[in-house]
Amino acid sequence: MESGEAAPDGIPAVGASTPVRRVLLVGFMGSGKTTVGRILAKRLGWAFVDFDERIEDRLGISVERIFLERGEDEFRRVEADVGRELLESEDVVLASGGGWPVGPGRLEDLPAGTLSVWLRVSAEEALRRVDRADAVRPLLERPDALAEARRLLEEREPYYRRAGLALDTEGRPAEALADSIEERVTS
Ligand code: S3P
Repeated sequence: MESGEAAPDGIPAVGASTPVRRVLLVGFMGSGKTTVGRILAKRLGWAFVDFDERIEDRLGISVERIFLERGEDEFRRVEADVGRELLESEDVVLASGGGWPVGPGRLEDLPAGTLSVWLRVSAEEALRRVDRADAVRPLLERPDALAEARRLLEEREPYYRRAGLALDTEGRPAEALADSIEERVTS
């Protein structure tokens, strides 16, 4: 299903009178934020920035090592700072980490001109994609990864739902998803 659900009250929607200056992709690990984001940025002639990469650059170690050596709380602190900074940039496609939207006001207090997009994926498909990927997702490195993915998804969906646009990713190639978002940006 593709839905262009209107953003709930209190969320600054990007309307006809507000040109889109940045796209913020949100969604669970494995939802395709990086893949879709790169394609979309290329099409728009914008930069693409992944929150996790910026966090790794800042701390000089991988996300996996940040979780291991400094703990999740420290990761979340740096993630919050990086998110705040990146949301000030323009002509950019941003891919947040899967946990970033879970914070007070995250998707409600976006700067004007931000089109937020939730890329939806099931826990099962997310795990299949994450297993094939190079980057380690510390939160899913456990024997009961599927149960944990389901739990996290359930907890996070109410936050992801606050995005201005929701797109189902399963069975849809990344190019088609980028098409749908591009249409929103340029229309
Ligand atoms: C996380 C998602 C990861 C990364 C970290 C924590 C999460 O990013 O930020 O492993 O809490 O869902 P991706 O969503 O890009 O995999």
